[in-house]
Amino acid sequence: MRCASRLLLALPALALAQEQFPIADKIKGWLNQAQSFISSAVPAVPSTMDAGAAKVAEHVEIFLTLDNWQSVLAADPSATTAGPDDWMVYITGGNRTCYGLCGNATIAWNESVALLSALPTAPKFAVLDCEEQPILCNAWSVGPPSIYYMSIPHALADQSTPATTVRWIPLNRTSVIASDITTLVTKQAYKNTEPYEGIWHPFNGLIAQYDLALPVGYVVWGFSKMPSWLPMIAISFLSRSFM
Ligand SMILES: *[C@@H]1O[C@H](CO)[C@@H](O)[C@H](O)[C@H]1NC(C)=O
Ligand SMILES: *[C@@H]1O[C@H](CO)[C@@H](O)[C@H](O)[C@H]1NC(C)=O
Ligand SMILES: *[C@@H]1O[C@H](CO)[C@@H](O)[C@H](O)[C@H]1NC(C)=O
Ligand SMILES: *[C@@H]1O[C@H](CO)[C@@H](O)[C@H](O)[C@H]1NC(C)=O
Repeated sequence: MRCASRLLLALPALALAQEQFPIADKIKGWLNQAQSFISSAVPAVPSTMDAGAAKVAEHVEIFLTLDNWQSVLAADPSATTAGPDDWMVYITGGNRTCYGLCGNATIAWNESVALLSALPTAPKFAVLDCEEQPILCNAWSVGPPSIYYMSIPHALADQSTPATTVRWIPLNRTSVIASDITTLVTKQAYKNTEPYEGIWHPFNGLIAQYDLALPVGYVVWGFSKMPSWLPMIAISFLSRSFM
């Protein structure tokens, strides 16, 4: 009697043990899947990543505006490394500023941010949407889809700040894929682009130095909003009144 009840008690445990074998197999299967996913993740991103990538991107990237860009794109004073802080700014747009053709580039960017943010040496990520921030895009004279790669140095001991290096890297809106963007970082491919040193440089350019970026941004934006016949009328009006 005692023996039988013990057996009865043991039965569910046995059944459980037997059920556990397939579970162990299942776990092994999952691990294999995860491993193949991770090892293949960088060169070719599986399409199942998109939804997750947008979520990750949302958490690690900062959206630039006229008000915040100067405080966002600054060297982190608490950083322990001496080197410059690298920022990758993704410049995007919508129907008006990118002719509605920035979708593929944005998917590639989101995937790249998700992948790159796992790297210990990852740059920081920001997004400039020209549809929302036309003045800032005009002040920098940049268009979507593109990446502005910025190396922002820390202030030196004497409080002087070395020049900021910026590289403007246009993306091909038809053919860009995530690996085009990740190799900018993993293979330092951004260095293939010469640093930009012209007047539109956001930090050291002539226009920024004389604090003209904002007014110029507004003027250029204003001209883009203006019907094309308006400047003609204005000029003929002006020249007539001068005579
Ligand atoms: C990319 O990520 C952002 C969040 O940062 C999200 O708002 C956007 O919808 C995503 N775009 C695509 C095409 O996945
Ligand atoms: C952009 O244009 C497409 C097609 O013309 C339209 O379906 C979509 O709603 C537009 N998006 C915005 C934000 O206006
Ligand atoms: C986006 O990519 C798809 C397939 O990769 C392509 O068919 C489509 O033309 C691309 N869209 C744009 C706007 O380039
Ligand atoms: C973008 O990619 C397409 C397809 O690969 C190519 O035909 C086109 O010339 C490229 N455009 C530029 C500006 O490189």
